[in-house]
Amino acid sequence: MSLAGKKVVVVGGSSGIGLATAELARKEGAEVIIASRNAERLKAAADKIGATAIVTDVSSDDSVANLFRTSGAVDHVVVTAAQLRSGPFKSVSMDDVRATMEGKFWGAWRVARAAQINAGGSLTLTSGFLSLRPRPNSAIVSAANGALESLTRALALEMAPIRVNCVSPGIVDTPIRAAMAEAARADMLAKIAAGLPAGRVGVADDLARQIHAFMLNGFASGAIIYIDGGGLIA
Ligand SMILES: NC(=O)c1ccc[n+]([C@@H]2O[C@H](COP(=O)([O-])OP(=O)(O)OC[C@H]3O[C@@H](n4cnc5c(N)ncnc54)[C@H](OP(=O)(O)O)[C@@H]3O)[C@@H](O)[C@H]2O)c1
Repeated sequence: MSLAGKKVVVVGGSSGIGLATAELARKEGAEVIIASRNAERLKAAADKIGATAIVTDVSSDDSVANLFRTSGAVDHVVVTAAQLRSGPFKSVSMDDVRATMEGKFWGAWRVARAAQINAGGSLTLTSGFLSLRPRPNSAIVSAANGALESLTRALALEMAPIRVNCVSPGIVDTPIRAAMAEAARADMLAKIAAGLPAGRVGVADDLARQIHAFMLNGFASGAIIYIDGGGLIA
C-alpha cells in the first residue's frame, strides 16, 4: 500500500516534523498541500518538495475554513502546527497560555471540524512527551498535549470510519528550537541523547515515518504512539 494518488494536507508543513511528513508523502506519490502562517517560508518549502502552499493560521476559524474550502475533500490530514509559550505556572501570562492552547489545541480542533476527509482516510494529531513526563515551567504544554490525546480518542469514535490517531514526539531536533543559541542547543541535545535508551535525540523523519504508518494502516484508530527514543522509560 502507498499514498500514490492520495491527497494529503499537512498543517504545520513548512518546517520540522510536518515538512518531513509532507516530503515523505510526496515521495510516495501523494498530492500534498502544506499550510502554515509565514508565506515566504511556506512557499520555499512547497517549491522544494513539489507541494501546494496555502497560507493558514490555525488560531483563526476563517483561515482554517479557507484552507479546506480551497483544498476540497482530502484523504489524509496531519496537524503538527504549534507555537508554544510557557513559563512558571504562577507567573506566566494568561495571554501566553491562551495563545498556546489557541494554536496547539484549538488549532487541531478547528482542523478536525473543517476538514472533509474521504472514506478510508485519516487524521493524525501531534501531542508531545510533556503529557506524561511533565517538567517545571511547562504546565500549559503538558495540559495541551494531554487534551490532544483525549481528543484523539473521542474523535476516533465520533469521526469513524475516518481514523484518528496521535503521535507524541520526544525531543526531536527541528527548527522548533531555532531561537536558542546554537552552542547551547547542541549541548542540551547531546545531554538529552546521552540519557536516552536510543542513544540519540530524534530527527524529523523518525516522526514522519510513524505518521506515514498511521495514514496507511487501516486498523490504526484511537492510537497514541510515543516516538521518543525510550524517553518515557528512561
Ligand atoms: N521538536 C520537538 O522536540 C517536539 C517535542 C514534543 C512535541 N513536539 C510537537 O511536534 C509538533 C511539530 O514540531 P516541530 O518540531 O516540527 O516544530 P517546527 O519545526 O517549529 O514547525 C512548526 C510548524 O507549525 C507552523 N505553525 C506554528 N503555529 C502555527 C499556526 N498558528 N498556524 C499554522 N501553522 C503554524 C510553523 O510555521 P509558521 O510559524 O510559519 O506558522 C511550522 O510550519 C508541534 O506540535 C510540537 O509541539 C515537538
